[in-house]
Amino acid sequence: MKNVIIKMGHRGAKGYVAENTIESIKKALDFGVDGIEIDVHLCASGELVVLHDFTLDRMTNGTGEVSKLSLSELKQLKVNNEFLIPTLEEVLDIIDKKCLLNIELKGRNTAAATCEVVQKYIKTKGWSYQDFVVSSFQHHELEDVFHSDKNMPLGVLTKANVDEAIEFAKTINAVAIHPNFALLTPENVKRAQSQGYKVNTWTVNDHETIERMKTYGVDTIISDFPDRL
Ligand code: G3P
Ligand code: CA
Repeated sequence: MKNVIIKMGHRGAKGYVAENTIESIKKALDFGVDGIEIDVHLCASGELVVLHDFTLDRMTNGTGEVSKLSLSELKQLKVNNEFLIPTLEEVLDIIDKKCLLNIELKGRNTAAATCEVVQKYIKTKGWSYQDFVVSSFQHHELEDVFHSDKNMPLGVLTKANVDEAIEFAKTINAVAIHPNFALLTPENVKRAQSQGYKVNTWTVNDHETIERMKTYGVDTIISDFPDRL
């Protein structure tokens, strides 16, 4: 039987519309994705905002660290001269359970606020834990989520070593590892899966690599061009 691969848009549909914006997320939804990956930071007034970098310089007309500005200050900025920086809640409202959401804890101290938002949407808006996977390169953030909410599906990001990611995944009862595709072989994909972990790989953009990842039997492919999956 052919395995079913989850098709996930990276930062929305980064290949088509400015990353991590509502418009990019809408584009990914238009493609009929199974999931969307976004990055979050905690801003100075305590809300989670969706942006990849720790600083504003590359993507917006602002400068300096995201974590130093309040939400109202961040809302005055433009992404690519056009779009607003969304909050995590605005992203959840747009997705509205139409697909899975992979929240990458990019910034520091994002664990508690993320648990709070996810729990609020589960309690009041009909979402379930299965609609989420919370991933990070930062072990400390993942440990914080693990200690505050044992039901949260966790994914261990790595661009270094699949086996080390598995070893850490065991300590926080993660459901998945999220390796860069360049780390993968058919053998280590099987090794991770045989130990009970899903293998969610990123950022796979060209057709040839997408096909190769499919032959490895990965569980999820995260792509800037989700329509290619
Ligand atoms: O979550 C997968 C991928 O987004 C991790 O790397 O740098 O694109 O956030 P980055
Ligand atoms: Ca990311």
